[in-house]
Amino acid sequence: MSRTHPDLTVVADANALAQLAAEHVMAHVNDAGDSVAVCLAGGSTPARLYELMAGERYRRAIPWHRIHWFWGDERLVPHDDPRSNFGAARRLLLDHGPVPPGNIHAIPTSSASADEAAHLYETELRHFYGADWLDPRRPLFDVVLMGVGPDGHTASLFPGHAELEERSRWVVGVREAGLAPFVPRVTLTFPALASTREMLFLVSGHSKQEIMTSVLSKTDLPATRAYAEGTLVWLVDRDAAPEQRDVA
Ligand code: 6PG
Repeated sequence: MSRTHPDLTVVADANALAQLAAEHVMAHVNDAGDSVAVCLAGGSTPARLYELMAGERYRRAIPWHRIHWFWGDERLVPHDDPRSNFGAARRLLLDHGPVPPGNIHAIPTSSASADEAAHLYETELRHFYGADWLDPRRPLFDVVLMGVGPDGHTASLFPGHAELEERSRWVVGVREAGLAPFVPRVTLTFPALASTREMLFLVSGHSKQEIMTSVLSKTDLPATRAYAEGTLVWLVDRDAAPEQRDVA
């Protein structure tokens, strides 16, 4: 699998998407060693996956003590704000398992600025990784969940923004989001997001069909610029898939 040529699977609906995503996550969780690093996505699409993983079937199977939870991006709002990506994952998933507090690596949003929050989070990522340089042979994450916005953004990497060109910083501040919610953001950069055994895009709903058509025709968008040192997988439900894509 090349770093940028995605493996695309079309599934019937949002429930099937969540189910297959859970199987991908669990495969990497079970395949990893003592410590697993899962980088969660924000937005609404992953909610069904988080609920599924918090449900009876997965809650018992998840080795909660071994998994460290990170975020690919965050809105600079309090964690109890309904727009918080951390708050959503905590409410839907992390509050439902015996997660050691030290395993939750939230992006700090009480910082004075997005740049300060980015610096703090980069420091935390470097400390967890144990080095200041990302080695393609030793990924930072086991799984990175990603979404795509209707404008083609992913994480908080928006079209036309300078952050797309960042190649040395692992985390950067985004003073003006390119799409709602229009609050400052903190986002991992492409190199940090790419440092993973698997990058897993989850795309659902008819509102994403147009942008998925652009993505699959390789239009230059943040979502098409994303790459992974490991496998790059797109899981798309039928409503979001361009015409003539067969369902798995
Ligand atoms: C964010 C997300 C963002 C999201 C896409 C898709 O903080 O907004 O990280 O990149 O994944 O905007 O969002 P939906 O899943 O809500 O369509």
